[in-house]
Amino acid sequence: MTSENSTIWCAPANIALVKYWGKQGDQLPQNPSVSMTLSRSVTTTVMKWTRVTGPPVHSFLFDGQPEPLFERKVFSYIDKIIKILPYLSNFNLDISSSNNFPHSSGISSSASFMSSMVLCLLRAEEKISGKPADPLEFYRNASTLARLGSGSAARSVFGGFNVWGATGAVAGSSNEFAININDRVHPIFKTYRDAILIVSSGVKSLSSSAGHGLMESNPYAAERYKSAGENTHKLIGILKSGNQEEFMRIIEEEAMTLHGLIQASSGGPILMEPGTISIIRRIREYRSHTGSSLCFTLDAGPNIHLLYPEDEAGEIRRFIEGSLLQYCENSNWIDDRIGDGCKEKPRV
Ligand code: PMV
Repeated sequence: MTSENSTIWCAPANIALVKYWGKQGDQLPQNPSVSMTLSRSVTTTVMKWTRVTGPPVHSFLFDGQPEPLFERKVFSYIDKIIKILPYLSNFNLDISSSNNFPHSSGISSSASFMSSMVLCLLRAEEKISGKPADPLEFYRNASTLARLGSGSAARSVFGGFNVWGATGAVAGSSNEFAININDRVHPIFKTYRDAILIVSSGVKSLSSSAGHGLMESNPYAAERYKSAGENTHKLIGILKSGNQEEFMRIIEEEAMTLHGLIQASSGGPILMEPGTISIIRRIREYRSHTGSSLCFTLDAGPNIHLLYPEDEAGEIRRFIEGSLLQYCENSNWIDDRIGDGCKEKPRV
């Protein structure tokens, strides 16, 4: 493989603090969301391109194997963005992705996958055209293109804390792409860790697109979009001030609201498992005994994200190992933390 016609990108998952749940138009959010990008839960995508004269034929492998469902999604995404990246009409793409964490189980694997693939596509465009893009524009385009594949992927392009969706709380914010807000975040939050407790690694019963669809007939939708906008404003202020008490309150309210909305949707499934609820109870007990800043959030799945500052890492590890792993599948957890975003890997 040469560096002339190939590229490798690693992109991390992100965890939403204010949730995106409900969309409109072409993958535009109904409300702004705020997230923290992780460090260790990553997708790595390798892409090679070859010029062709006839219609291109692409290939896609996941973990080294054909995956027909993912392949269909990737190929239809490439068709969708041909009008934005016209070079795609003249090149065969060989794409190969792998995750170091369970996919499709509610740990935002679509976010890390889409952003790693889009960064490959944009790097290829740059190399083929011979015109290096301005870095700000390159990453903003990556966020926009990633959004077209998976909304939350817009936020995985950048490290630290990010806002996606237009909000009066952040100048320059947009429904089209995410923007980074690290320069307005208190140092305490930049030390935050995320212990992902794998209650179940099975494929989730509600795909994100079906879940967003449920919001179209959810009787609480309008109220939710309003409260998500307000929570975004509040959280931006909290992240700036360093108020951990308020952070815990709003983060857990968002997680429980997401699951409440899913359950209140017509035909909406229960995504929490008994282990999820036991863990939430244990966290609340632990907090009331210790005064810890530990809090939890959830994606649209049963797995729990424990968020806490670095200075509590020792005690929290003991708590996880002593009291929480019994609720996890094969005692499985990922010791993750805030990360600094996507990276291009040197050629192999
Ligand atoms: O990006 P999608 O379509 O997979 O939706 C993500 C939805 C949540 O993970 C539940 C919330 C979020 O903001 O990431």
